[in-house]
Amino acid sequence: MAGTGVFAEIIDGEVYKYYADGEWKKSASGKSVSIINPTTRTPQYMVQACTQEEVNKVMDAAKAAQKLWARTPLWKRAEFLHKAAAILKEHKNPIAECLVKEIAKPAKDAVTEVVRSGDLVSYTAEDGVRILGEGKLLVSDSFPGNERSKYCLSSKVPLGVVLAIPPFNYPVNLAVSKIAPALIAGNALVLKPPTQGAVAALHMIHCFHLAGFPKGLISCVTGKGSEIGDFLTMHPGVNCISFTGGDTGIAISKKAGMIPLQMELGGKDACIVLEDADLDLVAANIVKGGYSYSGQRCTAVKVVLIMESVADAAVEKVKAKMAKLSIGPPEENCDITPVVSESSANFIEGLVMDAKQKGATFCQEYRREGNLIWPLLLDHVRPDMRIAWEEPFGPVLPVIRIGSAEEGVHHCNASNFGLQGCVFTRDINKAMMISDAMETGTVQINSAPARGPDHFPFQGLKDSGIGSQGITNSINMMTKIKSTVINLPSPSYTMG
Ligand code: G3H
Repeated sequence: MAGTGVFAEIIDGEVYKYYADGEWKKSASGKSVSIINPTTRTPQYMVQACTQEEVNKVMDAAKAAQKLWARTPLWKRAEFLHKAAAILKEHKNPIAECLVKEIAKPAKDAVTEVVRSGDLVSYTAEDGVRILGEGKLLVSDSFPGNERSKYCLSSKVPLGVVLAIPPFNYPVNLAVSKIAPALIAGNALVLKPPTQGAVAALHMIHCFHLAGFPKGLISCVTGKGSEIGDFLTMHPGVNCISFTGGDTGIAISKKAGMIPLQMELGGKDACIVLEDADLDLVAANIVKGGYSYSGQRCTAVKVVLIMESVADAAVEKVKAKMAKLSIGPPEENCDITPVVSESSANFIEGLVMDAKQKGATFCQEYRREGNLIWPLLLDHVRPDMRIAWEEPFGPVLPVIRIGSAEEGVHHCNASNFGLQGCVFTRDINKAMMISDAMETGTVQINSAPARGPDHFPFQGLKDSGIGSQGITNSINMMTKIKSTVINLPSPSYTMG
C-alpha cells in the first residue's frame, strides 16, 4: 500500500515529504499542497510546499554530488540504475495505486507504466555503457593544409545538473525517461514532479534512494509553481532542462538561460485515412489511439482526416468499437476514466459546445458527470471549429472529411503542432510520400501514433517541442563533447 512498508519513511502524518541530500524532509514553509483525486474530486494526498531557500540547498548539494558522480566508473553507475529498476518493478503495486488515485489512470495501465519504467531504466543503463564507452579519434591531415601532426580525442562528458519536469499523464515513466539518461551520463538530477502525480513520483524516487545512489545526487522538490516554478527553471545551478507538458514549456524556453533544452509540448496528431485503407485496422487504431487513457496522451490521435468515399463505413466501425468501451472509475479498470481535473473537463466541454454550435455531427450523445466525460466522436467537423485545431486532452475526437491526400497533409501541416501523425493505406509508395510531406517528428504507417518502444527517437516540430527524446537521444542530449588534442612536434610520417 502507498506510504507504508518500505515507503513509510516518505510520509509524515498526512503529508508526503520531499527528498533532498539523501533524506526525506519536511519543508520549513510548514505549508502543503493538496492533490485532488479526479474520480472522487476530494483531496487524496498532500505534499510539501518547498521554499526557494530549499531549492537553493538542493542545487548546491546536486552540484557537489555531481562532481564525484562524474568520476564514478560508468559500469558502477549502470549497476546503481539496474538496482533501482529492480526495486521499482518490485514495488509496482503501491506506485500504481498512487497513479490510480492521483491521475485516474486505469489500474492495469498504471501497473504497466511502472513496469515499463523499470525496463526503461535498465535499457538506459545498458545503452549508456555502450554509447558513453566510445569516443572518437580524428587526425589532422584530412583537412586541407594540415599535416598529420595533431590527434583529436573526443568523448562525451556530463552537463552538470539536469532539471526534470514530467507531466501529470506519465508522472513515473516520463520522469525516469529523464532521470535515467541524466544519471548514466554522470549528471545530478533535480525532479519537480507535476502536482497530480507527485506522490507516485515520490514513491518512484524512494526506489532510487533504496538503490543507494550518493547523497544529494538525486532530489525531488514539490510545491506550488508560483513559488518555485520559475525559480527552478531560471536557477543558475541548472545546466539542462528536460520538460514534458503543455505550452508552459514555451514560456520556460523563453526564460531559461543558455542551456540545452529538451521540450515535448503536446500535439494535434493527425490520422490520415486513404481510400484503400483496411478499415477494421483503421477503426481499431482510432479507438485505441484516440481514447486510451481518455485521450490524455500527447500522442493520442487528435484529428481524423478521412477520404469522403470511405468515411461513412469507417465512422460506423469506429462507433461500434466505441460502444464496447467501459466507462467509470480507474479502480475498476475502465477504459474511459475521469479526466485529470475539473478545469480540464470544462475546457473539453468548451470545445464540444463550440463544435455543436457550429454544426458538427454528434455520433453519440454528449455526457459528463463531474470529471468523467463519455467518449465522443464528432463527425463532419470543419476547419472553423476550435476542435479542428486545439488539443482537447480528453475522450473527444473530431473527424474531418477530405477529398484528397493533399488536403489531409495540408490540414496536418497547418497546425501549430508537429509531434506525430499517422497514415493508413495499403500503398507503401503513397505512405512514404505522405510521411515525407507531413511536418511532424514521426509518422506511423498503418498504426496510431505512440512514443514507444522507449528507445525509438521521439521528437516534435514547431510548438510540439525542441530536441529529440528516446533513450539514446536523451543520453546524447544530456552530455557535451570534450576534446583533447595531442600535438606532435612534427608530422608523424617523418619517422621511419
Ligand atoms: O503524453 C505524452 C507521452 O509522451 C505519450 O506517450 O505514446 O507512450 O502514450 P505514449
